Amino acid sequence: KNQVNVGLLGFGTVGCGVYRILEKNQEELIQRTGYGIKIQKILVRDRDKKRDLQVDTELLTESVEDVTTNPEIDVVIEVMGGVEEAREYILSALNHHKHVVTANKDLLALYSGELLTTAANHDCDLYYEASVAGGIPIIRSLVGGLASDRITKMMGIVNGTTNYILTRMTKEGADYQEVLKDAQALGFAEADPSGDVEGLDAARKMVILSTLGFSMKFNLKDVQVQGISNISSEDIDYAGRLGYTIKLIGIAQKDEGRVEISVQPSLLPSDHPLSSVNNEFNAIYIYGESIGETMFYGPGAGQLPTATAVVSDLISVVQNMRMGVNGQSVVLPHNKTELKNDED
Ligand code: HSE
Repeated sequence: KNQVNVGLLGFGTVGCGVYRILEKNQEELIQRTGYGIKIQKILVRDRDKKRDLQVDTELLTESVEDVTTNPEIDVVIEVMGGVEEAREYILSALNHHKHVVTANKDLLALYSGELLTTAANHDCDLYYEASVAGGIPIIRSLVGGLASDRITKMMGIVNGTTNYILTRMTKEGADYQEVLKDAQALGFAEADPSGDVEGLDAARKMVILSTLGFSMKFNLKDVQVQGISNISSEDIDYAGRLGYTIKLIGIAQKDEGRVEISVQPSLLPSDHPLSSVNNEFNAIYIYGESIGETMFYGPGAGQLPTATAVVSDLISVVQNMRMGVNGQSVVLPHNKTELKNDED
């Protein structure tokens, strides 16, 4: 057969973006994979809910089995968010020999070991480029382009919502609550935006990056986290007058075999490149012993950038299927290797 069938778990901001890109870029997808890619089922909570994006109602189902255990489906894309249900559904999909693409950083920050091991044991792919920094291909870069280097430090802005809020507070003196609402309306914030503003979303992303960059296991609870909810317009004004910009910065640094990870609002000199990263954009510096320093920049949140990463993962999965290989090297470290932090 020359068609790959896809099941979507979730049809919110990112899910609709995936649907749109699959529709719009059909020709490119066929060119790049040799296959037609078709969404076969979409898991939603309520089939009758009014939606901006009109789709054939036959595609919509409220039963997860129609996706994760459906023999017609080859690849499951999880874009529903949350932890426990998403974990259960992904495990079910893998146990039914389906490849999985997920954007779920909350889940990966807690259960990447379990999920990657299950995928490996079933010879399935598990890709998650969209889990960190939306449209920046940072996961592939860490496990691909920079794989030969010894990473010493990663630092940057990895949450779009808080960067959007801080940018508008800095540039327009906008009110925190108002701009948070805008960030939600624009599809940058999580369903529960407290994870964004309290720094947890950034902490989860730093854990995922650190696991890949340092090939060690990390616990979310070991990350020192402080969000931006206590930052006032006065703090921002005062910092500005002294020549500084306030940004929510994640840092993971390796020192004598130990890695410290933190997320906190930080004062950056206003001419620092990270000070110019505005709105929902993210930027990440990677420092390596051989490469020195390299910086990645791009949209960190939003429907189409995030969905682009998801569909690109899907293309990788389909290319692997065509070649009859697994692309698990893309999601190292995992497999049967025991990876431990020095503290364990
Ligand atoms: N809520 C996240 C952010 C979405 O604002 O960065 C992208 O992961």
